[in-house]
Amino acid sequence: MSGVTLKSIYKSFGAQTILKNISLEVNSGEFMVVVGPSGCGKSTLLRIIAGLESIENGDVYIDGHKKNKDDPSKREVAMVFQNYALYPTMTVYENLAFSQRIRKRSKSEIQERVMESAKKLRIDDLLDRKPKELSGGQRQRVALGRALVRKPKVFLFDEPLSNLDAKLRQEMRFEIKKLHSQLNTTMIYVTHDQTEAMTMADRICLMNDGVIEQVGTPQEMYNNPVNTYVSRFIGMPPINLIEGEINIEGDQAIFVSDELKIFLKNERIREKLSRNSQKIILGVRPQDLHDNYFSEIKDIKNTITATVDFVENLGSTAIVHTHKGNTQISGSIKSETSIKPGDSIDLIIDVNSLHFFNQATNERVNF
Ligand SMILES: Nc1ncnc2c1ncn2[C@@H]1O[C@H](COP(=O)(O)OP(=O)(O)OP(=O)(O)O)[C@@H](O)[C@H]1O
Ligand SMILES: [Mg+2]
Repeated sequence: MSGVTLKSIYKSFGAQTILKNISLEVNSGEFMVVVGPSGCGKSTLLRIIAGLESIENGDVYIDGHKKNKDDPSKREVAMVFQNYALYPTMTVYENLAFSQRIRKRSKSEIQERVMESAKKLRIDDLLDRKPKELSGGQRQRVALGRALVRKPKVFLFDEPLSNLDAKLRQEMRFEIKKLHSQLNTTMIYVTHDQTEAMTMADRICLMNDGVIEQVGTPQEMYNNPVNTYVSRFIGMPPINLIEGEINIEGDQAIFVSDELKIFLKNERIREKLSRNSQKIILGVRPQDLHDNYFSEIKDIKNTITATVDFVENLGSTAIVHTHKGNTQISGSIKSETSIKPGDSIDLIIDVNSLHFFNQATNERVNF
């Protein structure tokens, strides 16, 4: 087993710098999900690891060995793409066998490897078909199989599921995770989908415009986002971010914005606040904002009375989108609700789960 280490990677296309000082340690056997918006440099990073793209600065280590100058074939990595990239004129068997023929393995070893991979992915009954005779999900399995037969040290996935419908995507997520726990091989998985990142990753690497914003377990990213960007990207529906200030009034720390007044758990805040007032961005996840009926915390002081804009029913719960003055606020309520647009709703904030960010830097403030 072997990990991947990236040290201070820089990459430009023409005058545009795409990757800016990327350093990342992917542990041996880890499932690392690289997530970020379109164009932030995810695919470029993956192609650099695979050796398909050169770098101006920095080092790529695979299994502890510097691989900067090595050809893709010498890196012992296998890549799976969104568009499958299957050979259309070859059968499934030939698609799987191709890389092994090039490596001049014996016929019997090729057959053994192909059958082993095909069984793992349950495509052993499709070996005589051509890609055009397969469904999208089956094609994706063949693409996975083609990586699997190579027995690589590292798997690289570039949005492998984005061509599939929602249900199939969920099934394949589970299949890939299962494969990971069987093989225990290092996997680096690129996606722009935060749900995929949250459900699949051992750790997430969140990129934004060529830099890494934060690396951590899904729970760390959700509970302790280092800045407003991470807080908004991780978590569905997105966190409520509200500008205001924290004031100390007598013994009590209070968050005040144009429309809101929230009484905070104040011991640590009072100790840490250097002045009597500090500008702040308050972060409240919709999951920490409930109506009276749903909430175990009957906190009258920290109830926001807002006007409902619309209700998004998710089955077991519903997301209620509201506003109070100019402030948009989303909360989480029971799905069997008669609440409708225009109604007034009381939302209770769980003050134990608030996030605070510096207004000037957008960085997390830990009270
Ligand atoms: N060969 C190239 N020549 C010039 N610019 C490129 C090239 N490849 C990528 N880019 C640019 O580099 C930036 C990052 O591209 P990249 O494909 O890595 O993004 P991404 O995060 O994978 O996006 P997506 O989620 O849309 O796949 C983009 O602005 C893209 O236009
Ligand atoms: Mg991409």
